[in-house]
Amino acid sequence: MSTNPIPFLDLVTPHRELKEQLVEVFRTALNTAGFIGGPMVDEFEQDFARFCDTKYCVGVGSGTDALRFALIAAGVEPGDIVITVPNTFIATTEAISQAGARPDFVDIDDRTYNMDPHRLVEYLETKCSYNPDRREMVHFRSGRVVRAIIPVHLYGQAADMDPILYLANKYNIAVIEDACQAHGAEYYSRRDVCWKKAGSMGKAGAFSFYPGKNLGACGEAGAVTTNDEELARKIRMIRDHGQAKKYYHDLEGYNGRLDAIQAGILRVKLAHLAQWDEQRREAAGRYNALLANHGGVIVPHQPATAKPVYHLYVVQVNDRSALGKQLGQIGIGTGIHYPVPLHLQKAYGALGFHRGDFPVTERVAENILSLPMFPQLSIQQQKQVADELLRLIATSASQSVA
Ligand SMILES: Cc1ncc(COP(=O)(O)O)c(C=O)c1O
Repeated sequence: MSTNPIPFLDLVTPHRELKEQLVEVFRTALNTAGFIGGPMVDEFEQDFARFCDTKYCVGVGSGTDALRFALIAAGVEPGDIVITVPNTFIATTEAISQAGARPDFVDIDDRTYNMDPHRLVEYLETKCSYNPDRREMVHFRSGRVVRAIIPVHLYGQAADMDPILYLANKYNIAVIEDACQAHGAEYYSRRDVCWKKAGSMGKAGAFSFYPGKNLGACGEAGAVTTNDEELARKIRMIRDHGQAKKYYHDLEGYNGRLDAIQAGILRVKLAHLAQWDEQRREAAGRYNALLANHGGVIVPHQPATAKPVYHLYVVQVNDRSALGKQLGQIGIGTGIHYPVPLHLQKAYGALGFHRGDFPVTERVAENILSLPMFPQLSIQQQKQVADELLRLIATSASQSVA
């Protein structure tokens, strides 16, 4: 190995730095036996709602729970269609199916990798018709109602929400933001002439606190953010077996609560999130400067309307699998998010999609490579990653010429 190893993600350093405060959370939980609910959960929910500029936050067991509960509470019913993108983690569509609905897709924008609003207009206005009496958008071929849209703020960059919200409002469709990778990301709304936080724009936002996220628990955790009091109330019931009061069940729900130890840990880490997000943005800026002017690497596009938080720093390169493998051999960790678009996954074979249905996603999925990205990534480490990546690209170019 010719270089010092550089991990894809360093989860050890931040926990070591915060060790005393994190251990104190365990002590509090042990001393009070407050494991489920209680002040640590309430306090985190209040702090995270404030961080996201929303009125409410409901802590749940995972990001997948957050999406599923938000969809159910927003009125998604068995048989409905929920539209999302094929370039996301499967949890987005699992939540749709588990709410009883059918996932359907629109393609992504080839520069931002997020939902392309033009494709959404095309879907709604050529494949569906609006029934004004029932205030429902109905998909022609299947007769199903399009009940919700899930734009995914992928890699930590907000989707173009203005046109998505405009269409959703026009056709009475709920928007649930998948903000599982976008804690603190901001979007400039041309319509409202202000910056908005991810998770504050749709009917609800879903967050994952999986350990590797920008805000990660020491285990599984998630949250729903919303400005809708009634929606927050329903989600509080759904996460707790449908009960508004102990043993009085208004509906059948789930065991999907955020536990107190995770909430306490998240609250400690939340105090550092804005700074960590800023460090990620600075690291992304440095990668851009090191990589952008070399042919062979497409760096992330940041529109003027986006202030991303770079959960992942994703470039496009030719022959990315070989490059990723070669980088791995010299101790540099990389990832692929995601290698197989959802419409081509075996799990969705029965939905009847084919290669060619979402060409932008399919093309991008062949070339994307996620480079090491975490707040403590040093300038030296970034130079090393960039040097090695460019050296390998140059070597493979000269070999293919020879
Ligand atoms: C885009 C996206 N949606 C949903 C999820 C699901 O979150 P969780 O793993 O906490 O259930 C994730 C987590 O990896 C994600 O990246």
